[in-house]
Order: sequence, then C-alpha cells, then structure tokens
Amino acid sequence: MISKIGISTGGGDCPGLNAVIRAVVRAAQLNYRWDVIGIEDGFDGLIYARNLKPLTVADIRGILHRGGTILGTTNRGNPFEVVTYENGKKVVKDLTPLILDNIDVLGLDAIVCIGGDGTLSIARDLFRLGVPVVGVPKTIDNDLSATDLTFGFSTAVNTATEALDRLHSTAESHHRAMVVEVMGRDAGWIALESGIAGGADGILIPEIPFDIGKICHMVKRRQITGSRFSIIVVAEGAVPLGGKQVIQAEATGGYNHIRLGGMGHYVGRLIQEKTGIETRVTVLGHLQRGGSPNAFDRILATQFGASAVELVAQEKFGHMVCLKGRQIESVEIEKAVGKLKLVDPDGQKVHIAEQVGIELGRPDNAEEEKVAEKGPARRARGKAEKPEEE
Ligand code: F6P
Repeated sequence: MISKIGISTGGGDCPGLNAVIRAVVRAAQLNYRWDVIGIEDGFDGLIYARNLKPLTVADIRGILHRGGTILGTTNRGNPFEVVTYENGKKVVKDLTPLILDNIDVLGLDAIVCIGGDGTLSIARDLFRLGVPVVGVPKTIDNDLSATDLTFGFSTAVNTATEALDRLHSTAESHHRAMVVEVMGRDAGWIALESGIAGGADGILIPEIPFDIGKICHMVKRRQITGSRFSIIVVAEGAVPLGGKQVIQAEATGGYNHIRLGGMGHYVGRLIQEKTGIETRVTVLGHLQRGGSPNAFDRILATQFGASAVELVAQEKFGHMVCLKGRQIESVEIEKAVGKLKLVDPDGQKVHIAEQVGIELGRPDNAEEEKVAEKGPARRARGKAEKPEEE
C-alpha cells in the first residue's frame, strides 16, 4: 500500500520541471490521497535529509508556467561517489546507506526522480539497491533514446528560434555573418530544429564533422548573389573535420559532464578571416534553459507527471515514463540510460535542411568524413583558438 511518496529533480534545470512536480502532486493527492514530500537539490536532499518539505495542492499552486524547479537541483556529484576531505585528504565515499536509512525513517513508499541520463543512471543504481524509484526523463537536448521527446526541448528550440529572428535584423542591416552557438553536447537537435525554424543559412551539429571551407563558401556565395548576410547556428558540441570539440572544463567525476563552449567563436573567427566579411558571435547559453515552458512542454510535462503517479500506483518501480509516437508509455530505466538519441546524418530532417539549401558543412569526400568520425578522442581541452590543427 502506497501512502507517501517523495519527488526530486536532478541534473540541469529545464522548462517544464515545475509542471511535472505540479502534475505529480495533484495526481497523487486528488486520485490517491498520498502524501508527497519534496526533496531538495536532487539526491543531496535524501543523503542529508535536509529541506524536505511536504507538498500539498495548495503548495504547488501557480507553478505550472514557471521555469526552473521549486525543488532546486544539482548536476554535480553522485551519492555513490561523494568526494569529502578528511584531515586534508580527499576521500570518496558511498553515501547511499544514508539514502536508504532516510527513506526508511521518512516512510517513503516510492520516489519520483525527474532527471536526464546522469540522474536516471543514479536512479537505476538505487533501484538495484532496492529503492522503489520511478523516473521522469528531462533534458532540453532531447537526446534520451528511450523517449521520442523530452519536455523543455520545444521551449529551448523556441528560444533559439526567437534569437535567430532577432539576429536576422542586425545581420541584414549590417551585412554581417552572424554565428549563434546553442546547447547540445552530443546531439545537434536544438541547432538543427532552431536552424530550420529560424531560417539559418548554415547549421553545424556534433553528428556531422564540418568542413569550414563549405561554410565560408556559402557565406561568400550568398554575398556575391545579393544576400549580403548569413546566419550560422553552431551546436556547442560541433566538431571540425579532423578536429576536436572545445572544452571549457573537464568533468569532475561521477555522472558529472564536461563543459563545452567556444566552438561558435572558433567558427566566427574563421569565417571573418577567410571571407573578409564582418562576423559577430552570440552564445545563447543558459538562456535556452530558463524561462516559462511553452504550451507543448507544459502538456508533455503534465502527461509525464500524472503517468509517473500511475506507475507508482501499479508499483512498476525501476521504470520511467516516455513518449512513443503520441502515447505515454513506460520503459525500464535500465534499458533507457546510457544510450543517446543522436541526429541521423542521413535522416529525413537533415536531408530536408539540405534540400532547402542549408549548409551543414558536410565534407564532399565521404571517406574523409569517416576518418574524422573514427579518429581518436574528438574532444580538446582549451580555448577556441586551434581545435582544427590538433
Ligand atoms: O544537458 C543540458 C545542457 O543544457 C547541455 O546542452 C549543456 O552542455 C549543459 O546542460 C550545460 O550545463 P551546466 O548548467 O552545467 O553549464
């Protein structure tokens, strides 16, 4: 018999997290009269049993449209490998026994974990230890393989598209090339979709190592044929042909990830150098993660939240909700994590982008491209100065 559940948000924030929290609380209380405990800052709240707050329907009033998460979050650390310092020495500890004790003490019959691949991997490991977890996938990157879409992605694409619309004005007025760097560590979904929606002339994604010569040629050709400006969208994880990604900071351990950034400036500098056309770079950064979720994401988040409550009611622990076509379904978290959903370089959306004349920087020589893909580590530490020459 379920009577009390916990809910937490982990990983980077994302538009729609509050809509999930609201849906979980409402569905749990209106349909089952369960108590719901909000756990703050991902798994930290459960390790240290701090800032745990009962959530009632009254408490979650007015949060549907709010960005961020009322529960707070963190994308640093992993309860299985917590770094502490004892007598000045670094010690890595497994603090999951504290989580198990606290779940017991609090009387939690289930925990709804909302998160991306890292958070859900921890949820899977906790489930293996016997914790009754149910997952809700989130990420603006839309790169989780087990769900057709994650909430937050659509809003991020809208934000990036609006930025492209605004940059068009200046690009056109000043006859400039405008480079826009968007998020997308491994997958180029935000770049591809916002680029198509925003009428970009070039789109660079991690899945297609790019030939900068193709981009410069496109910019030049447009100038000669009377279109005296160009807009190029660059995913932060894009990689030059035979080169590497630009890393700002290494991962610090656990499920933490490397921090990318700088490819936009690298591309912008080369365009200006090679074409002589004045070029400006805008990095959208966390603007894409913030703000109010759009209607689509509010609906998907509400569907996910309410369906997660149903999974708890059915005691389908170790599962997460997902979208398949137009239906909400569920999948074992075990089978869902660790596999990314990347843009297919030969897929329909990429093909359509090329059909309407968007330059993806695809090298002419397919053999060269294969060499680049198979090459050694595609990631380089440091600034955007020289990833190509490495
Ligand atoms: O995973 C979502 C994401 O937006 C990535 O595209 C990006 O690399 C990362 O988050 C940035 O995270 P942080 O908030 O740690 O800078």
